[in-house]
Amino acid sequence: MKRVISLLAAVMLIVLLAACGGGTSAPRTLRIGVALYQQDDTFISSVARELQRAAQEAEQSGDVKINLYITDGKGSQTVQNEQIDRFLDRKYDVICVNIVDRTAAAVIIDKAETANIPVIFFNRQPVEEDLRRWEHAYYVGLPAGDAGMMQGQLVLDAWRADQNSIDKNGDGVLQYVMLEGEAGHQDALLRTEQCIAVLTEAGVAVERLASETANWQRGQAALRMRQWLQKGIGEIEVVFANNDDMALGAIDAWQEAGLPMEELPFIVGVDATPPALEALQAGTLKGTVRNDAVGLAEGLMQFITAFAQGQQLSAAVPLTDDHYLWLQYEPVTRQTPQ
Ligand code: BGC
Ligand code: CA
Repeated sequence: MKRVISLLAAVMLIVLLAACGGGTSAPRTLRIGVALYQQDDTFISSVARELQRAAQEAEQSGDVKINLYITDGKGSQTVQNEQIDRFLDRKYDVICVNIVDRTAAAVIIDKAETANIPVIFFNRQPVEEDLRRWEHAYYVGLPAGDAGMMQGQLVLDAWRADQNSIDKNGDGVLQYVMLEGEAGHQDALLRTEQCIAVLTEAGVAVERLASETANWQRGQAALRMRQWLQKGIGEIEVVFANNDDMALGAIDAWQEAGLPMEELPFIVGVDATPPALEALQAGTLKGTVRNDAVGLAEGLMQFITAFAQGQQLSAAVPLTDDHYLWLQYEPVTRQTPQ
């Protein structure tokens, strides 16, 4: 009888230890909701892939299991709100939001606060006033204007190094077209503005032949470029594309129009996606700016693990102004070692 009692006591002790998170317990499972604005966006799909990889790595290095629940908002804020509501109803540990409509953040933050579930936005930046509504609302991203400045600098360097090869009509003025990302996206607005500012501030005379949105998409960009070529808006010397997919679309249109590839305008994009890096090597794309998919994924994971381990966030994540984790862009040309 005594032995049975002591056995029972031992079993109870083990159960207790396990419940308290002692060494013998199963790893803790974290449930993370990840709401993407549009899964088939080239850059965003790479962030999602990197996030899965980063979660696996975190599982291997820590005593934790991470279940990612990834949803596709398909470009609709209404659809995304329902997905986020479900994350909150199910009391997930953390939610990561690649918001469809940047102006819709306040409602999401308020709901997250009520549910007391930290919310980390990424890539699509809410306005600061919204983020400040709650201490556990954060943003991980890259400073949008920098990518434009780097694009402008790439073009400026090339213009200074060999103006004749860009200034095809020899008038000393840089004639360009702009392929813009989605209207209202911070990256579209600031990249569009900053790339031109770099040139004009350096004293280069520029002439805008056309500027239109192609919503980050290769097909839409090809269509725009085809229309410009057909309309004969003037000789296009530089194509600024707010992202690589649109830069590739401009190249597609040129090729489809049967124009000589040696006369391709000077084309620059942003993201450094694998097909863009191939185009750089082929010489059709002249420059791009690396957008940090890996950094975004790892940044989100830093937040997630810090919350899971109950760490003081400011000690675990290098925050700026309490709410921001900033990553950096990087210019890439054919010469940049890969
Ligand atoms: C990327 C685009 C992408 C967009 C989605 C931007 O930072 O450069 O390629 O479509 O984010 O929000
Ligand atoms: Ca010119």
